[in-house]
Amino acid sequence: MMTSNGHSPQPLAPAAPNPNVLLQVRDLKMYFAITKGVFGSVKGYVKAVDNVTFDVNLGETLGLVGESGCGKTTVGRCIVRAYKPTAGQMLYYGDGNVVDLAALNEDQLKPYRRDIRMIFQDPYSSLNPRMPVFENVSEALVNLTNIRGSEMEDRVKEAIVRVGLRPEYIRRFPHAFSGGERQRIVIARALVTNPKLVICDEAVAALDVSIRAQVLNLLERLRQELSLTYLFVSHDLSVVRYICDRVVVMYVGRIVEAAPVNDLFRQPKHPYTEALMSSVPIQNPRHRNKEARIRLEGEVADPSNPPTGCYFHPRCRYAQERCRHETPALRDIGGGRQVACHFAEELELRGAVLGDVV
Ligand SMILES: Nc1ncnc2c1ncn2[C@@H]1O[C@H](COP(=O)(O)OP(=O)(O)O)[C@@H](O)[C@H]1O
Ligand code: SF4
Ligand SMILES: [Mg+2]
Repeated sequence: MMTSNGHSPQPLAPAAPNPNVLLQVRDLKMYFAITKGVFGSVKGYVKAVDNVTFDVNLGETLGLVGESGCGKTTVGRCIVRAYKPTAGQMLYYGDGNVVDLAALNEDQLKPYRRDIRMIFQDPYSSLNPRMPVFENVSEALVNLTNIRGSEMEDRVKEAIVRVGLRPEYIRRFPHAFSGGERQRIVIARALVTNPKLVICDEAVAALDVSIRAQVLNLLERLRQELSLTYLFVSHDLSVVRYICDRVVVMYVGRIVEAAPVNDLFRQPKHPYTEALMSSVPIQNPRHRNKEARIRLEGEVADPSNPPTGCYFHPRCRYAQERCRHETPALRDIGGGRQVACHFAEELELRGAVLGDVV
């Protein structure tokens, strides 16, 4: 039996406890084997994502932040099943049933590859320069649907117009466009299958500051017009603050904090979040923090050889002896907030200064 939108119902797990939930990521792990020698014997694992659990609610923009190398892209690539996760579940509720995306084979995944799309950072490498815009944008329709001919052309034009470009542009090649226009084409390519969930991976990071806000505003308008849900992956907190409703903070493959965006920025509960915020450049000099900035010393720990205890302890200005050997669990602290720090309740951490951010 097929539903009207072509999805095979696959009842796998109990219904979502919360009717607003679109995706539940549960204990997600993505380990990459480190191999050695011609026989490829496994020396160890890069634990890029290690036991990550979070929900994405219908219609929200959920931010996923953290320094480079913390596992954000890997989470996104697991959800779109560019990777088959090592372990864990990704329960998707988009068509009224629940399916575990982690457990599906390539055939079963097809409808979900239409439903869940990813936008990558670099509009230069993510478009094929040898194909006109039409072929670039229609690729997913060719691979994932039976839509062809004039209907396909109409769908591509509709997507191109939605992102603020002209329909006749579909005959041109990517090199004819500016960076901002190319990113609009990349967005059109994601939208052409009428997705429900779009994973934006550093979607504006490669753009000039002057056009960053335009593309963010476009994404926000599209979310409203098309009832989209976004997972917004970014290392840039000012962008996240501008566009997100809730934020999940990752450090070395794990979640260290999750909170509604304003609460997180007003009062972070994890020292890593505080340090990240302290490094956000404040553009308006009137809002610049008079107090000394917290410097985030050192590098992100190596996920194939993480520190003992709390992974953040070698860089944490509040670390105590306990932090060296006891791993803090991610726990609820009320107000829709979660944090993984032994001292979350005692610490008085400094939030970001309110001001113009993008
Ligand atoms: N395909 C891969 N093979 C091995 N290691 C990888 C692979 N992809 C990512 N990693 C490693 O996993 C960690 C997380 O990477 P990534 O998800 O790209 O982080 P982020 O997007 O937060 O910068 C990094 O240490 C990275 O080097
Ligand atoms: S558990 Fe300890 S080291 Fe980790 S963030 Fe909290 S205070 Fe810092
Ligand atoms: Mg990344």
